[in-house]
Amino acid sequence: MNRTAVYPGSFDPVTFGHLDIIQRGLNAFDTIIVGVAQNSAKNNLFTVEERVTMIREATGNDPRIIVDVIDGLLINYVVEKGARIILRGLRAVSDFEYEFQLAQVNHTVEKRVETLFMMTSVRYGYLSSSVVKEMAALGGTITEFVPANVLAKLQEKFPQP
Ligand SMILES: Nc1ncnc2c1ncn2[C@@H]1O[C@H](COP(=O)(O)OP(=O)(O)OP(=O)(O)O)[C@@H](O)[C@H]1O
Ligand SMILES: [Mg+2]
Repeated sequence: MNRTAVYPGSFDPVTFGHLDIIQRGLNAFDTIIVGVAQNSAKNNLFTVEERVTMIREATGNDPRIIVDVIDGLLINYVVEKGARIILRGLRAVSDFEYEFQLAQVNHTVEKRVETLFMMTSVRYGYLSSSVVKEMAALGGTITEFVPANVLAKLQEKFPQP
């Protein structure tokens, strides 16, 4: 049985919330491909290369975690990789609407691929890349939200006097 899941996102930048989903995902899957979206409609702070590097640094050299760029349609990427599962995280009810739509569209396009959701850990229920960037830009303390390598990159982007 193929026990590979693709965990897609923009990861701009990766947070402890994402890392928690990856680590817990490894309880269910042998391999997790963290797919960093290249052509996201979002206005990203970090380049795709920077985002990939930050995830690689933060996940160490665990051979079960593969970090890759998704250039194009997610569902095509998943099929190309021979994977059958898209892994997503759910925080508040506010995540549901969008995730529901995305999962339906992907399943309509490709019946062999299922989207599975993992509930956020309570301690990261409020955490998003957007919140982290806002805090960093305003000079807030974000040590509890992101690993040290990401913290350093954010401090480079938002130098505080
Ligand atoms: N704290 C968290 N707990 C659980 N899942 C999360 C958490 N943060 C992000 N995710 C999930 O990770 C996946 C990738 O998310 P994404 O790259 O959009 O991060 P984000 O933190 O939501 O960033 P943004 O604020 O830019 O939307 C999505 O499935 C998202 O729901
Ligand atoms: Mg998001």
